[in-house]
Amino acid sequence: MRTKFTSVLLTLLIGAGAAHASEGGNAGWQRSADNEVANLASLQRGANNFMAYCSGCHSLKYARYSRVAADLKISDELRDQYLVKPGAKFTDYITSSMPEADAVEWFGKLPPDLSLVARSRSPDWIFNFLTTFYADPAARQTGVNNLQLPGTAMPHVLSSLQGVQTVVWKNVETKGSDGKPVVSHQFEKFEPAVVGSLTPAQYDEFVRDTVNFLQYASDPTQVERQSIGIWVVLFLLMFTGIAYMLKKEYWKDVT
Ligand code: HEC
Repeated sequence: MRTKFTSVLLTLLIGAGAAHASEGGNAGWQRSADNEVANLASLQRGANNFMAYCSGCHSLKYARYSRVAADLKISDELRDQYLVKPGAKFTDYITSSMPEADAVEWFGKLPPDLSLVARSRSPDWIFNFLTTFYADPAARQTGVNNLQLPGTAMPHVLSSLQGVQTVVWKNVETKGSDGKPVVSHQFEKFEPAVVGSLTPAQYDEFVRDTVNFLQYASDPTQVERQSIGIWVVLFLLMFTGIAYMLKKEYWKDVT
């Protein structure tokens, strides 16, 4: 209900802008994350996913376990069992367990800290990054490539869940600037090669929750802010009504 109200308001306020944004180019694999940062259950699942599948390589260096647990209403017991890494204290920042020198040796670069990635890249970008890994024998180190970040050094760490897919390309002929035809490779569709433990819909849900958690982490006060915002708007609406009635009352005797 609350989110519905927010979205109606937002649609009214920025309707034109949003309509414009969704017209952007779509190559067939670009999708919207559709995550809801006010959805606590999704954020809790996302936190669990992050700790299980991402925190081995990536840190969230501005977030403390205790703050995340408090914001996401995770009990102390579950916090210590699922969130806090072995050997860490619940007051610690969420750091990666990988020694930097090893990371550089294994991946050629450091897995970046993900605290602000939802802002520097956008939730949709991360959603598309995590859903478009595909088998590519030319990528000798990881065996996979990615449509969102071609040539990425990140392995497909979720392949046991998603499975492995290949890309079917199509040749598209366009006219170059000199009028000669130019043939380019374009994405046509994915084809499953190895089946994962989740269905495609479950995998999307898994990624959506993880992206949602990263969006929360990039601005931890936004969950609270959104719910305060609703009350502020309601108060303003109510106050407008009162002010209008007062005005009528005052002017009754004058006119
Ligand atoms: C085995 C180590 C490893 C694991 C586990 C891992 N990553 Fe990565 N990740 C990397 C490396 C290395 C890069 C740098 C890739 C590049 O720049 O080509 C990266 C890059 C990224 C980026 C791109 C950041 C940017 O702005 O360029 C995102 C987003 C990301 N990872 C998210 C995740 C998420 C979410 C998970 C958990 C589901 C995860 N990663 C698990 C190694 C890992």
